[in-house]
Amino acid sequence: MITRKSKREIEMMHDAGKLLAKCHKEIAKRIKPGITTKEIDDFVEEFLAEHGATPEQKGYSGYPYATCASVNDEICHGFPREEKLVQGDIVTIDMVVNLKGGLADSAWTYVVGEADDKTKKLLDVTKNSLYKGIEQAQPGNRIGDIGHAIQQYAEGEGYSVVRDFTGHGIGRTIHEDPHIPHYGLPGKGPRLKEGMVVTIEPMINEGDWKSKMDDNNWTARTIDGGRSAQFEHTIVITNDGPLILTDQEGEID
Ligand code: MF3
Ligand code: CO
Repeated sequence: MITRKSKREIEMMHDAGKLLAKCHKEIAKRIKPGITTKEIDDFVEEFLAEHGATPEQKGYSGYPYATCASVNDEICHGFPREEKLVQGDIVTIDMVVNLKGGLADSAWTYVVGEADDKTKKLLDVTKNSLYKGIEQAQPGNRIGDIGHAIQQYAEGEGYSVVRDFTGHGIGRTIHEDPHIPHYGLPGKGPRLKEGMVVTIEPMINEGDWKSKMDDNNWTARTIDGGRSAQFEHTIVITNDGPLILTDQEGEID
C-alpha cells in the first residue's frame, strides 16, 4: 500500500531532512586522507544526539551502525571500520535520521583528497542521475518514468545502473511501498500522487551493474571490482513539483 503523508508528517520529515543535510555538510569538512569510516560513524551518532535525533538505521533489521559507509567497489551497506581512507578513495555515507518521529534518508559520495578526472565524471554523472530522476517525480507521472530517465542518462554516459537495490517509500519506517527502481520503462508502474514521500538513490557503476554479497550478509559490492557511486535524496511529490526534504543547498537552519 502506498500512503500519502499529511502536511504535519511532511513537516516532521522535512525537519529531519534539514538536520540530515547539515550532518552531510559537516561530514564533507571531515573527509580527508587518514580518517576512518568508524570515526565518521561516531561523529554522526554524536551530531544527531546533540540535535535530539537518533540514527534510524542502527538496529534496523539488525544493522549494527548509525551509517552505511561504502568504499570504492562497495555499492551499499558497507560497514564503518577502522581502516584509514586514502587519497583518491570514494566513500558513500548513507544514513536515516529520526527527529521526533520524522524520518529522512540521504546518501552522498565523497572523494578523499583530490579527485582525478575519471572520478569527477563518475560522481558528476551519478549526481546528475539523481536530479534527472527527481525531475520526473511529478503528480501524474509513473514510477517507471523516474527509472527510465536515470537509466537513459547514465547508460548514455557509459555507466551501468545497479538493479539489486532501489529507492523506496519512507514514512514511519525506513522502507515502505513503493519500490523505485533506477531503471525501467516510461509510463509503467504505479502513478505518483501528491503527498507521497519516496527516496531516489541511484547507484551507478563504472563496470557491470551486477553485485555480490559480502560474508557479513549486508555489504554489496561490484562483481568486477569497478567503483560504484551513489547520491540519494528523500523527496515529496507536490502539485508544485518535487520538494527535496534533504536538500543541502540554500537555507537549512
Ligand atoms: N539508507 C538505506 C537505504 O536507502 C537504508 C538501509 S537500512 C540499513 O536503503 F539498515 F541497511 F541501514
Ligand atoms: Co539511504
